[in-house]
Amino acid sequence: MIPLAVPQLSGNEAKYLQECVDSTFVSTVGPFVGRFEQMVATAAGSKHCVAASAGTTGLHAALIALGVDRDDLVIIPSFTFIATANAVSHAGATPWLMDVARESWTLDANQLTNELERNTKVKRGTLVHRGTGKRVAAIIPVHTFGTPADMDAIVAVAKRYSLPVLADAAAALGATSHSRKIGELGADLTMFSFNGNKTVTAGGGGAVTGDDEDLMKKLRHLTTTARVGANYDHDVVGFNYRMTNLQAAVGCAQMEQLDAFVAKKRMIRDTYDSAFAELPGVELFPRAAGTESACWFSGFVVDAGTATRVRSALQEQSIDARPTWKPMHLQLPYMDVPRASLDVSDDIWQRIVTLPCSTGITNAELNTVIEAVRAQLRQ
Ligand SMILES: Cc1ncc(COP(=O)(O)O)c(C=O)c1O
Repeated sequence: MIPLAVPQLSGNEAKYLQECVDSTFVSTVGPFVGRFEQMVATAAGSKHCVAASAGTTGLHAALIALGVDRDDLVIIPSFTFIATANAVSHAGATPWLMDVARESWTLDANQLTNELERNTKVKRGTLVHRGTGKRVAAIIPVHTFGTPADMDAIVAVAKRYSLPVLADAAAALGATSHSRKIGELGADLTMFSFNGNKTVTAGGGGAVTGDDEDLMKKLRHLTTTARVGANYDHDVVGFNYRMTNLQAAVGCAQMEQLDAFVAKKRMIRDTYDSAFAELPGVELFPRAAGTESACWFSGFVVDAGTATRVRSALQEQSIDARPTWKPMHLQLPYMDVPRASLDVSDDIWQRIVTLPCSTGITNAELNTVIEAVRAQLRQ
């Protein structure tokens, strides 16, 4: 099988893990966690970083740090991985689903502006959603597949309504927008995932970056059981969300290879794009203006019937072609939450074919995939 996205553990992973074992620092205390936080902060262009046990737990704690509370609404794109919505639910809040723009597959800033204008009002100093009466508490734009969302527009509208912005940059480390790094795009907090299928992995894990020292201190406090002092005093309901030294050891070894891995991901995207550009009925993954995507996933877009047919034909040839995220409004837990019109989300998810894009993929494997796709699309 040519896999979809598997880790490449070709650096110092084993060496650093052995150091953890030798030193007995295998849990949440140990030198790799701090080193990992430094490396992620630098790569993100942020002043501070707090490592977490997963991207999802990082998102959850970040929402609490930003003041999201029970019964609030948090705006997210419907076209995302379910972890974005679940983190909102874990905070006791409800997602308000919006569409993505066709030219980037990221949160549609025009719709966001219109929805806030038409469907909210200020009641006793609080921004509330007209339909539900719930407080609107935050916006989570997602840097879909590593492509930066239109943050200038999103942050501008967020400021107008005094809404905090938490960027879900799960797979976007290494991307830029107008030459700015992902942590430099105006979000209050930015979350990265180091899950096993990400460009750089920690086995599992997450990190949240930001520039506001007090907010980051609060976040660190929340992720480490909100302990005060050396004894068993805790001042709020905290979480056991700290990354372990074992995860961070793998994460540090992977971060040392970030630039090379992102370059390889972009090469894979370019290779597929030039191979499929001329095929009739095929659209390419979007390239959002002014951005350099981290190109986490690559593939192509066709009509829904062809997508299903090609995916199963490739699977039969041991090529791990997959569908992509089913949008949140089609998921059982989120069918009844507030939503805007979701035409683009409804359209694209059924038409996307994702193709093998591991950083370790060989040219021969890429050619095998390309020839298999071409053979299918000529039918
Ligand atoms: C868009 C998005 N958000 C959140 C997550 C959650 O990250 P994790 O799996 O590390 O919890 C992921 C990846 O898995 C993701 O793709």
